[in-house]
Amino acid sequence: IPNDFRLMMEAHELLRKFYHHLLVNTKDGQHALEYLLDRGFTLKSIEKFQIGYALNSWDFVYKFLTKRNFQPDLLEKSGLVIKRERDGSFFDRFRDRIMFPIFDHKGNTIAFSGRSLGAVDNEPKYLNSPETAIFNKSKILYNFHLARPSMKKLSQLILFEGFADVIAADKSGIENGVATMGTSLTDDHVSIIRRNVESVTICYDGDNAGIEAAYRAATTLASSGSSVRVAMIPDRLDPDDYIKKYGPEKFQNEVIGASVTFMTFKLQYLRRGKDLQNEGDRLQYIENVLKEISSLEKVVERDHYLRQLANEFSLSLEALQQQQKQIYFANK
Ligand code: GTP
Ligand code: MN
Ligand code: MN
Ligand code: MN
Ligand code: MN
Repeated sequence: IPNDFRLMMEAHELLRKFYHHLLVNTKDGQHALEYLLDRGFTLKSIEKFQIGYALNSWDFVYKFLTKRNFQPDLLEKSGLVIKRERDGSFFDRFRDRIMFPIFDHKGNTIAFSGRSLGAVDNEPKYLNSPETAIFNKSKILYNFHLARPSMKKLSQLILFEGFADVIAADKSGIENGVATMGTSLTDDHVSIIRRNVESVTICYDGDNAGIEAAYRAATTLASSGSSVRVAMIPDRLDPDDYIKKYGPEKFQNEVIGASVTFMTFKLQYLRRGKDLQNEGDRLQYIENVLKEISSLEKVVERDHYLRQLANEFSLSLEALQQQQKQIYFANK
């Protein structure tokens, strides 16, 4: 590793410890700590995830690190401070935010994501470190480092949308959760996942954006060869909200435990916005389902879903089989 990279990680390491200290032990961090405890974060989680607080200051980080002999240019390259065009002076990137350290797979601190405490009208809710020599967000899964043992043991991971979801799930005893850094799943993420586990449960937010993103992630993961399940959250909640409202057991049993296969998720996805009492909608739905069934590789699976479809709409299995074959050969 080049010396610069090592120094950048060292700066992050020092800062992680100091941000955490500010949150947990100081008066300046007290409102941030109260905010987290109010939201249902526990001291145990704050410790485990090394959550911290960045002071409401323009130059605290700059002074803290230059005093320890880190060069301003290195700090700028590491994304921790920003250079003013005007006079070449520097200011801190993260101010008055809850700080989530981002670790690489070895446990080095390589970046931060800072959550704003107040209203988020004029500023981003989460502010991430920029891409740097040590941080490439398309290759990083939040919590991968800590989740790895559990992930390996179960040969499974759970993919969440947000940091808060990963942390709430962890508090509920689900330790194999990871999240992307607010971006969609990249090919690099997929190959990391493929290298480490057989199966993935996608547990995104229950709003429309979450359902659409889950569909896309599931499609990408399934075509990479992962075995995919989808766990859906009701009432447009996200996993963190759900756990706060209903508790860990219900989350374990009625969300994660009730996850469905990708195919069943697709069927539910195809139903959205359709009124199946309406003949036109119903025929359209059946046609779409037959297309999905045709794309299944295994005869047994095709048979299973054809029977399910026949039962649900009191259709003859023979007619469905025939139509499915037509679709199948038309796409060959
Ligand atoms: P909380 O409101 O703290 O519970 O966050 P959340 O995780 O529920 O946020 P949301 O569902 O809105 O977004 C999911 C993820 O997208 C977050 O965890 C972030 O990683 C990312 N994200 C959300 N808002 C922003 C933003 O304003 N900027 C950036 N860069 N990322 C964001
Ligand atoms: Mn501590
Ligand atoms: Mn969301
Ligand atoms: Mn969310
Ligand atoms: Mn949330």
